[in-house]
Amino acid sequence: MNRWQEQLYSLLRFPSISTDSSHAGDVAACAEWLKSMIQESGLSAEIRPTPGHPVVIGKNEHKEGRLNVLLYGHYDVQPVDPLELWESPPFEPEERGGKIWGRGSTDNKGQHFAHLCGVAETMEEKGELPVNLTILLEGEEEIGSPNLRPFLEANREEFACDVIVVSDTGMVAAGVPTLGYGLRGIACCEFVVKGPARDLHSGCYGGVVCNPATVAAQLVASLHDEGGRVAIEGFYDDVADLEDWEREMWAKVPGVSGEGILAVTGSPALFGEEGFSSAERLWARPTAEVNGIGGGYQGEGSKTVIAAETMVKLSFRLVPNQKPADILAKVRKHLESHCPSGVILEIEDGHYGSAYHTDPHSKYGKAAQEALKKSFGAEPVLIREGGSIPIVQDFKEVLGADTLLLGLALPDCQIHSPNENFPVANFEAGIRMNKVLLEELGATV
Ligand code: BES
Ligand code: ZN
Repeated sequence: MNRWQEQLYSLLRFPSISTDSSHAGDVAACAEWLKSMIQESGLSAEIRPTPGHPVVIGKNEHKEGRLNVLLYGHYDVQPVDPLELWESPPFEPEERGGKIWGRGSTDNKGQHFAHLCGVAETMEEKGELPVNLTILLEGEEEIGSPNLRPFLEANREEFACDVIVVSDTGMVAAGVPTLGYGLRGIACCEFVVKGPARDLHSGCYGGVVCNPATVAAQLVASLHDEGGRVAIEGFYDDVADLEDWEREMWAKVPGVSGEGILAVTGSPALFGEEGFSSAERLWARPTAEVNGIGGGYQGEGSKTVIAAETMVKLSFRLVPNQKPADILAKVRKHLESHCPSGVILEIEDGHYGSAYHTDPHSKYGKAAQEALKKSFGAEPVLIREGGSIPIVQDFKEVLGADTLLLGLALPDCQIHSPNENFPVANFEAGIRMNKVLLEELGATV
């Protein structure tokens, strides 16, 4: 076993589920563990409180004339349900078939820990790093980073940097190094359709009062037209077109063909906006998704009932130059205008963040491409990402620095799903990549 794998297991054993307040103590304990690990590698480290979960900060000795690099990651994880579908318990990591299995193995503990291991190895081998490094690990990414932007705004000078390094995205296929230069944004909301004061007998009252579940289904169905486009008025108003060079380049990227997506998702067919390839739909087009829907009897057999209310959770993936608050306002207007009378509709906005887009051919982008090439032994592909890391655009706005997205996740790592896993080979490649990357970045000054 590689010498760091046992340590990664210790990190993975913390059930640091940020959304679940009963796990706040585990989140805090995880932060403490990371602080100690960073200190053991020869850097200074501290825990900084926020109104929510704490931030872990690490620094080497900063010297005049060197590049200032901020390394970001998140140590919080998604909930584990449905627990019964896990082949091994989510917080008891183990290796099977060359992969490390456990919640957070890829998203994001395995990925940022690979960087911490790379830093530790460089410190051991050379006694110092080729750049001024600041490590920033947060515990709230999976809940939309509610406290990190204010934290950065309050500490702008401390976190001022030339470039930011993040491994919290994907590789398009095994062995294909991937540099991300964009992320979709996100805007979340949920609504409740309320009808009768209590659940009713559906024979005694069916046909004379409005059924909230039916209305919720109508509202959900109204979000798309038959061509797969989002049917909310004005939704596409600010959408930036993708560039011709991106269309051409993405057509050659492995792993995002129709067959690849069907194989990895297990879906019976592809779906999406007409006129766009799967890569274009994923990386350059906005979407509307239902993330949760509930109401009425969910148990075995039937229960003839008109439930008092039905709940729906929605999220919208956004692209440049859509504005999250504007989109949420348009969603609200759409739902209100499509809701029939006879029920009460309550809508609550959730967290949101803008899309991010940068130039992969910048000085730092080129250094990242070189590091990927050297550490993976193959030419990197350049992609945008379908997922979101809202703090990346905040970094741009608050710190004025661009982010290099050096993804280590594979399409079948099952992030956010049962049986999340991280290939040992990617963990090791991440460690190598960190060492080469800091060298390459250090050489840009
Ligand atoms: N690591 C993901 C984001 C990601 C995954 C980007 C794969 C690109 C490829 C991150 O932890 C995540 O899940 N983000 C959330 C953001 C949200 C909760 C604000 C997301 O994308 O749903
Ligand atoms: Zn995630």
